[in-house]
Amino acid sequence: MDAATTGEDRPRILLTGCHGRLGQHLLRVLLPDAEVLGLGLEERSFVAHAGFHYAPLGGVSRRELVSHMRNFRPHAVINAAAFTDVDGAETRREECWRANVELTRSLVACCRPHGVWLGHVSTDYVFNGLQGPYHPEDPPQARGVYAQSKLAAENEVRGGEIPHAIFRTIVLFGKALRVKPDFFEWALGELRAGRPIRVVTDQLGSCCWALDLANAMRQALFMRRTGLFHAASRGHMSRYAMAQMLARLAGAEESLVRPVTTAELGQAAPRPLQGGLMLQETEAALNLRFPDIQDALKCWLADQPEIWSNN
Ligand SMILES: NC(=O)c1ccc[n+]([C@@H]2O[C@H](COP(=O)([O-])OP(=O)(O)OC[C@H]3O[C@@H](n4cnc5c(N)ncnc54)[C@H](OP(=O)(O)O)[C@@H]3O)[C@@H](O)[C@H]2O)c1
Repeated sequence: MDAATTGEDRPRILLTGCHGRLGQHLLRVLLPDAEVLGLGLEERSFVAHAGFHYAPLGGVSRRELVSHMRNFRPHAVINAAAFTDVDGAETRREECWRANVELTRSLVACCRPHGVWLGHVSTDYVFNGLQGPYHPEDPPQARGVYAQSKLAAENEVRGGEIPHAIFRTIVLFGKALRVKPDFFEWALGELRAGRPIRVVTDQLGSCCWALDLANAMRQALFMRRTGLFHAASRGHMSRYAMAQMLARLAGAEESLVRPVTTAELGQAAPRPLQGGLMLQETEAALNLRFPDIQDALKCWLADQPEIWSNN
């Protein structure tokens, strides 16, 4: 980035979805070096931190984004906003499409005249989930409304004639304020309360600690890398095995993790049974190494969420 390399000014980054799980982890890794303008759904931000500025997103209209681009003059834009309710998307298609596709289209259009780098977040759900782990260049085949919206958003970015980095991730987890519990947080809460949990044995893949993804995105931004990247912990196992691993690491009762099949669970949207993301190209391009699942879980267990001073 120009400002980062010249040292004349702190880099300016416009971040959508700043209050989400990933958004808060991005703030943790960006704010030490950058000025961040966060855009979110809420009227006011609960985040107060040096270098952090906030404006309500106010819909996905291009007009407001254009004025933020003009006034803040970001060196880079990161889109961490998304409609992330995979099952809910099946009945709330338009809402999902507005957040995932239309907002992305508007961001691309705003970046284009200035040649601004866009970091965008996508998902392993763009694949059909039958033959993973997947290479970045494997052909996508999205099943379900959420998955199709995320693939459509990728296509907006790819076809947008702007410098961009698309990061696909998988089962994102991380401690953050005011977000709904992720898979591991939910599982740990139940196990610690002594309640049994039913976890699928036939959905294979990996997971990703949000701080690892945030650091990978920061690396791509500062190295000004472009292309398609995969971010996940190393390893390939079932959700059931991950929950058992968590119970062992947290000193909880492993036998409370009970097996269930995807068919028995009856989720509304299709799930990847053979998912997962190949990481070699991303690790080489960004000069990093993702931790294995066990190490990522240990880091997460020991992590303290950032206590943004306004809450
Ligand atoms: N969670 C997973 O397991 C997973 C797996 C693979 C990929 N991903 C992808 O990772 C990214 C980050 O996910 P996350 O777990 O951080 O999600 P999250 O906690 O649900 O945060 C998403 C944020 O998007 C914003 N948002 C929601 N609806 C919106 C709308 N209609 N218009 C504009 N903004 C809206 C909200 O931010 P504000 O409240 O700040 O406005 C929300 O906090 C997403 O692109 C998601 O698709 C997630």
